[in-house]
Amino acid sequence: MSLPEIREITTLQAHILKQEQRHPGATGTLSWILSALSISAKMIAAQVRRARLEDVLGTVGQENVQGEQQQKLDVIANEILLRTLGSREGVAIVASEENEQPVILRDDRQGERRYCVLFDPLDGSSNLDVCGGVGTIFSILRHDRRSEHTEDSVLQPGRQQVAAGYVLYGSSTVLVMTVGRGVDMFVLDPAIGAFIHVASRLRIPERNAHYSVNEGNRLSFPAGYQRYLHWAQEQGYSSRYAGAMVADLHRILLKGGVFLYPPTAKAPEGKLRLMYEANPMAMLIEQAGGAAICAPGERILDRQPDDIHQRVPVIIGSAEEVARVSDCLQTEDG
Ligand code: AHG
Ligand code: MN
Ligand code: MN
Repeated sequence: MSLPEIREITTLQAHILKQEQRHPGATGTLSWILSALSISAKMIAAQVRRARLEDVLGTVGQENVQGEQQQKLDVIANEILLRTLGSREGVAIVASEENEQPVILRDDRQGERRYCVLFDPLDGSSNLDVCGGVGTIFSILRHDRRSEHTEDSVLQPGRQQVAAGYVLYGSSTVLVMTVGRGVDMFVLDPAIGAFIHVASRLRIPERNAHYSVNEGNRLSFPAGYQRYLHWAQEQGYSSRYAGAMVADLHRILLKGGVFLYPPTAKAPEGKLRLMYEANPMAMLIEQAGGAAICAPGERILDRQPDDIHQRVPVIIGSAEEVARVSDCLQTEDG
């Protein structure tokens, strides 16, 4: 009697170890960082699931039952990441949306290879008030010891990222990441507290008649974007917008379409941040076969940063859809 075929069950931890074994020169430093990110994701997921309950279950005003000041989840998520990453020897610098300056953890000029970890601890945090999807986005760069000022080591173009990923705290908690060899997806099994590997080598569909943009800003978009939206609507495209880049791009990664955050009157450079929003998302989507540009002919990953919080317009998604937006932008003066 032959046994039924058993599909392998792999956790994120086991997946990372397996990858490491395939590379004999690997020191394990990156694996430790990924495992810190995975622990952070579980801790943040637990907090997100309890959003608003603290306010209700705490005592008067802003204090919780322990008499501590209640904090916004962006701050809590940031502290979780700083604390878990802080204990990893391989992390030289962390940079967060929530900290004005990068935090230098280890500044030796010699010794083992270290990394810079950049993150948006909670993306789309205003969605928490309405129980919508929120996320965490991360980007990992090699620490460049040659930088004159240690903190400048983080100012590298996105094409130099060694790993990138996001966690979506949605109807389930999903972690999607790449170390530059395709895109893997894991789902948190809350019963056992482990991320389970559910897909590898994810490919974004080449096209899909869906766009994702805050159309409330449409009248202040540059003419090329307006031309694209006009064209898409004539073609019968559908619109989907969650208000959290992680949620919107997760849908686009799986179903196809294009995500846009163009320059607006309020945000002439666009709203999204290059280093910890646009770059990691661009790496993931490119690794899945899609495209990510900030202007016609300019990859997001090639933009040279000069500030960790700098903003950039984004056009990310299925290769064909991104090309259509790009065409419309190029004919702007035509
Ligand atoms: P954050 O909550 O980290 O500040 O990011 C919110 C971002 C992004 O996730 C989302 O796509 C965009 O802001 C939404 O902006 P609008 O409300 O202007 O559409
Ligand atoms: Mn964000
Ligand atoms: Mn944020």
